[in-house]
Amino acid sequence: MINTTPQWQALSTLAEAQQGISLRDRFADDPTRAELLSIDVDGLHVDMSKHLIDADVVAALVDLANTAGLLDRIEDMFTGAHINSTEDRAVLHTALRLPAGSTLTVDGQDIPTDVHRVLDHMADFVRRVQSGEWTGHTGKQIRTVVNIGIGGSDLGPYMAYRALMGYRHEMIEARYVSNVDGTHLYQALEGIDPETTLFIVASKTFTTLETLANATSARSWLLDAVGGDESAIAKHFVALSTNAEGVAAFGIDTANMFEFWDWVGGRYSMDSAIGLSLMLATSPQHFADMLAGFHAMDTHFRTAPLAENVPALLGLIGVYYRNFLDFPTLAVLPYCQALDRFPAYLQQLDMESNGKQITLDGKRVPYDTGAIVWGEPGTNGQHAFYQLIHQGTTPIPADFIGFYEPDVDTVDHHDALIANLFAQAEALAFGKTSDEVRAEGVEEALVNHKTFPGNRPSTMIMAPKLTPFVLGQLVALYEHRTFVQGVIWGVNSFDQWGVELGKVLAKAIIGELTDGPSELAHDSSTNALIERYRAHHRR
Ligand code: F6P
Repeated sequence: MINTTPQWQALSTLAEAQQGISLRDRFADDPTRAELLSIDVDGLHVDMSKHLIDADVVAALVDLANTAGLLDRIEDMFTGAHINSTEDRAVLHTALRLPAGSTLTVDGQDIPTDVHRVLDHMADFVRRVQSGEWTGHTGKQIRTVVNIGIGGSDLGPYMAYRALMGYRHEMIEARYVSNVDGTHLYQALEGIDPETTLFIVASKTFTTLETLANATSARSWLLDAVGGDESAIAKHFVALSTNAEGVAAFGIDTANMFEFWDWVGGRYSMDSAIGLSLMLATSPQHFADMLAGFHAMDTHFRTAPLAENVPALLGLIGVYYRNFLDFPTLAVLPYCQALDRFPAYLQQLDMESNGKQITLDGKRVPYDTGAIVWGEPGTNGQHAFYQLIHQGTTPIPADFIGFYEPDVDTVDHHDALIANLFAQAEALAFGKTSDEVRAEGVEEALVNHKTFPGNRPSTMIMAPKLTPFVLGQLVALYEHRTFVQGVIWGVNSFDQWGVELGKVLAKAIIGELTDGPSELAHDSSTNALIERYRAHHRR
């Protein structure tokens, strides 16, 4: 395993040796540090200088990556090897953004041709809806699109819809329903007109309980509004799925289905047909621009040497923190309200990918894997949880994201926003010593309270503006960062068996809540909870 290699040992020794070196020292020792540890990729500026690293640590991390065979694994992914070994599938989300005319044949499938056929199908549909050629059952133009999906069939398009608020089509609003809690559907349907509403049922498998429950209720809501006329379904429901049979069984004409393939993981699917709601609410051109951003980052990841490769370096720094410095979490802090769902999106991307404890050859890992990813947009977080990041006992590496320009022309608070962004990264890195506090005349009893330890690492990611292209770059950056970590840890980042048990148990319990057996066979806690619920409903 990777932790028994000399490269792992070398990192361990380095981490130990560098424990006393502060970021203050590092910056004082090398005035070129910011320049040396920053990389620009197609307009995206990534400053890694406020990390607890130096050239030796970077070199040792690159050695570790080479030992883990990262370069070969990258090629395996891009060329369609079945690296999702537990499901015997290729992992080809990078092919979703290949330019038209590219060549890639995997398992007999001409991938770019199929990808662009679906993109053309989506663009044609969007054109018809936006122009009013496609209408609802009663001939009215579609004004609201409701995406019904969960996990990867919700988080990506929802995040991107909010992120690209400055690029929205003026006539179309999108809403998103994921939770099986009926309140979510109720909220999504509030105030909208069934005659002008299009439902997009998004589910890779088309078997997901939450999505099918919400879609069934949405169907009833629509039928109620049109006097039960089933022929209305064809004008108000489309599906995004890999499962044509499931779509047909649900009652959606497969002519109104936009397909994708089993080599697109759910959490890697926002740039597949799963992005239809985003394309409808923006435009095919904006969607294409986003794909170009993804592709630009893919090209960087596939071709840049590891020491200059942003996703590789960020992934490796994350491994360094997780395994050698014992930092268990990563805070993602966009100074951009439009990216308010970006941390939630990354939670699924990263935690469902690398929340694993079994290696590719079936053994229990003897080291930590996936970090806990969390975050909120700045500056809100500053007035909530930043206290712990500044003065808590466990360092929390942070990824800051900011833009030179605001994403929408609104009241101009941008300087204030960005000043806070830069100030937080500076305060976290350099802190304030007790001598500095004393020099301000603070009474002795408060000196320790007002001292900031500093040495709290962060990445600063900056771009001119949150455009569709930049959004694509950012998402691809995190996809590949996640992949790199999975390779180092030797886990399969593309399955998610851990979500199955809860689903199976829920299916059993749902029957027991209503007319199940009077003798319950769970543990005493679960039995009692079911009994209390039944008693409340007198079942
Ligand atoms: O239960 C987890 C999961 O399978 C995710 O991986 C996936 O994104 C989500 O459920 C939704 O799945 P589907 O798109 O098949 O409805």
